[in-house]
Amino acid sequence: NHLLLMNGPNINLLGKREQDIYGDVTLARIEKELTDLVEEHGSELDCFQSNHEGELVDRLHQANEAAYDGIIFNPAAYTHTSIALRDAIAAINVPVIEVHISNVHKREAFRHQSMLASVCYGQIVGFGKDSYRLAARAFLETK
Ligand code: DQA
Repeated sequence: NHLLLMNGPNINLLGKREQDIYGDVTLARIEKELTDLVEEHGSELDCFQSNHEGELVDRLHQANEAAYDGIIFNPAAYTHTSIALRDAIAAINVPVIEVHISNVHKREAFRHQSMLASVCYGQIVGFGKDSYRLAARAFLETK
């Protein structure tokens, strides 16, 4: 299993940004913990974060060419706006799990809609940083 963790805009500020919503854990910590979990299962994880929509589209295309087994993706605010990311996910053969740290359904109405969920393999929402671990387990244990 070769998995890819992708994070979208502002996720690089985890630990500093809106701690009451996102907690105090940093992205570096999440990447390290997830890498350890995936490696314990004899699999491999690559990590990518970008604040730029087009770079995220490019990384999805590359992941397809590299034939990853799964992508764990927190698209952050682009979840609610990006037809380009939706089309990229629909265009590739690699299954994507959409992940959110916060329970977006408890928050502002504009966060209730995902442009991406219906082209994803599944969605995990609202378990804090453990949302990432649950997504990794879904790939490691069900795929
Ligand atoms: C988020 C939820 C999004 O609505 C928000 O724009 C984010 C983070 C989450 O992980 O809870 O940046 O994706």
